[in-house]
Amino acid sequence: MDRPDRGISRRAFVRSAVAIGGASALSACLQREPTEDVPQATHAPDALPDRQHAWNEFLEPDDHGNDLPPEHHLLLGLEYVGDGPADATDEREQLEAAFRTLEKAYKRGNEGLVFTMGYGPAYFDRFEADLAGVDLPKPTALTPFEAPQLDEYDALLHLASDYGHVTLSVEEAMKGDLEQLNGIDVDGTFDGIFEVAERRTGFIGSGLPADNQSDVIGVPDGDPVPEDAPMFMGFKSGFKGNQATEDRVTIQDGPFAGGTTLHLSKLQLNLHQWYDQDSRHQRVSKMFSPTHADDDLVEGAGHNLGDSSRVTEVSEDAAEVARKGTVGHAQKAARAREGGEPIILRRDFDSTDDDQAATHFLSLHRSIADFVKTREAMTGTDLAKSGSVGTLTNNGILQYLSVHNRANYLVPPRGLRSLPVPNPT
Ligand code: HEM
Repeated sequence: MDRPDRGISRRAFVRSAVAIGGASALSACLQREPTEDVPQATHAPDALPDRQHAWNEFLEPDDHGNDLPPEHHLLLGLEYVGDGPADATDEREQLEAAFRTLEKAYKRGNEGLVFTMGYGPAYFDRFEADLAGVDLPKPTALTPFEAPQLDEYDALLHLASDYGHVTLSVEEAMKGDLEQLNGIDVDGTFDGIFEVAERRTGFIGSGLPADNQSDVIGVPDGDPVPEDAPMFMGFKSGFKGNQATEDRVTIQDGPFAGGTTLHLSKLQLNLHQWYDQDSRHQRVSKMFSPTHADDDLVEGAGHNLGDSSRVTEVSEDAAEVARKGTVGHAQKAARAREGGEPIILRRDFDSTDDDQAATHFLSLHRSIADFVKTREAMTGTDLAKSGSVGTLTNNGILQYLSVHNRANYLVPPRGLRSLPVPNPT
């Protein structure tokens, strides 16, 4: 029999099912992905760490000890439709039962599920009391050359798994459309509490961008994205040595200690010049640093770099190098380090939502100010004044990205993840 998805690889098929969502996409996905391989929880919910963002100890390491992110991602922008969270004991219990269902149904990790629930400034605005111990500003434009849409969702659920059907099943279960998840009865749902206002989807991992590059706005014809690249721009990102630790991004004091803050931007990619005109030497210079290009430090997607881009060891001073021509993205961003260590934990991934190549840039930090500081270092407006580095040109990868959305969230510790009040005791 002729199958409608004939010729499309399994992973590309699963990716489009995740992007479409809904019951029929889920059932199509279930025909393509083995469900018997998905493990139920190995820890009782109470034995899980207090940090929602404690994913790394459960993620598979790659050959070099980097934390390998799950391949499929689903972001649900949620609107609160309940009676009022100030006095919402029943709703809080219902939501907590929903999250515990997820924790029982799937082992935490790549082959099961990892997730975080965050709350935006719009959610906390409902309360009379101020948010205690955390600065959660409304999102704003962060560069002189962007005019992003500023998201105002009450909450953001980030779901990730190596199996597309896991993220889709969770979405269906939370909407109340599934009775069981991976053999576990669904105890609580979002019904009467949250409605899904927007879904964004994506993927990361060697081969996935190459599989999904055809007929996508922002990627030129000719399938230029290399087969082994985990991201559309062709390079590996998220080396262990270039990430903040989970400790570094965890809020230390106050009622939300154990939580973290999350910034989410949607960056649209335009890779025509990147692949059609820039040489490999230029791409490596712009992504890492000119030294990485001159000394041939990056092979292919950069898997040879092991667990560090070595950017602070090998690269020249960013301001110095900018005077000569091109400054690298990683080289600039590393200027935001504190005590020699990065201050943001990147958990970004690529997307073809609406047939547009994009990166959902999701990062975690102790404060939104840490993100803003890092983004300022990455933007490098100060460097644009020198040599042939312009505001956008030869200034890292700025020229290839446009910021479409921005949002800030607080990801509370697990104990406060269900409709938190702003000043818990
Ligand atoms: C399409 C968008 C982006 C791509 C493809 C990308 C890719 C990369 C790559 C390949 C590296 C070097 C490898 C590594 O250290 O993991 C890197 C480093 C880094 N990037 Fe990005 N990046 C993007 C956007 C951003 C944004 C928006 C920020 C936010 C401010 C950012 C912050 C960083 C930081 C902090 C580092 C590490 C610097 C250090 O070593 O201290 N990146 N990025």
